[in-house]
Amino acid sequence: MWSNKKSDRVAAARLPPNAPTTPAGAPATGSIAEIQAYLHNIRHKRLPGAPSTEIVHSLIIPRATYSPWANDVDFREAYQKIWNKTLVDGYRCYELWSLVAQTSKVVGDILEVGVWRGGTGLLMALQARRVNPSARIYLCDTFEGVVKAGTKDGLYKGGEHSDTSLGMVQELIAGSGVDNVEIIRGIFPDDSGGVLDESTFSLCHIDVDVYDSAKGVFDWVWPRLSVGGSVVFDDYGFFSCDGVTKLGNELSSIDGGSFIHNLNGHAIITKYR
Ligand SMILES: C[S@@+](CC[C@H](N)C(=O)[O-])C[C@H]1O[C@@H](n2cnc3c(N)ncnc32)[C@H](O)[C@@H]1O
Repeated sequence: MWSNKKSDRVAAARLPPNAPTTPAGAPATGSIAEIQAYLHNIRHKRLPGAPSTEIVHSLIIPRATYSPWANDVDFREAYQKIWNKTLVDGYRCYELWSLVAQTSKVVGDILEVGVWRGGTGLLMALQARRVNPSARIYLCDTFEGVVKAGTKDGLYKGGEHSDTSLGMVQELIAGSGVDNVEIIRGIFPDDSGGVLDESTFSLCHIDVDVYDSAKGVFDWVWPRLSVGGSVVFDDYGFFSCDGVTKLGNELSSIDGGSFIHNLNGHAIITKYR
């Protein structure tokens, strides 16, 4: 039964059933000091078999423990609707949720390229409905998997994540009750950018896994991004996505933009002029 009492809403919005369990050898309970001591032993371990020698990968375990996603009831309610429709973990989902709010006063709509089954797209639409009801959320995907994989990319070859469809995302959006979403099919921007040529954006989520696709989207959206708006690159720093990490590094000193490398696997560029 619906209750507006915060304690009930926190309980209802508990972690989804696929939440990680305690790994073998880790203390299931213990003081912060005991847990930090365990983590100290595995932190910084270099990961072997990286596709490129230029981009180093090691086990990253930040020491900070603040977890605002754990008791943000509105986020948890929204996350419960999408956790099984996304490849993106809760940390990055929470950052997208926060960025929709942080950019809500910036002029423009929200663009996502790389939708797969619609999880992060719906999450942003649910947050926009609360904090920026006039914004449209454009969700763009081939719905036939990754395209433009090339020599800069580590493990992607093209065609990955084709296990979705336009109908699947339409059904998710229709069932969620939001009316601020438009779904656009085709390679972006080559096939489908024209539909949005005259648009202005406050936020763009690029989740396309490979260098050339991510660069194509960024080059298209940057001139259409309002000052104060942000571009979020998913995949930045991921073992399988060296192409996106290379692109982020190339853009890290872009004129008019400030670049943040977030250890969760996002790179964020915010336009300041
Ligand atoms: C990792 S998935 C996206 C994950 C999604 N954001 C989620 O919540 O799980 C990457 C998607 O990017 C799409 N894609 C890659 N390059 C693209 C491009 N240039 N234009 C449109 N879609 C693209 C693929 O079809 C695939 O569905």
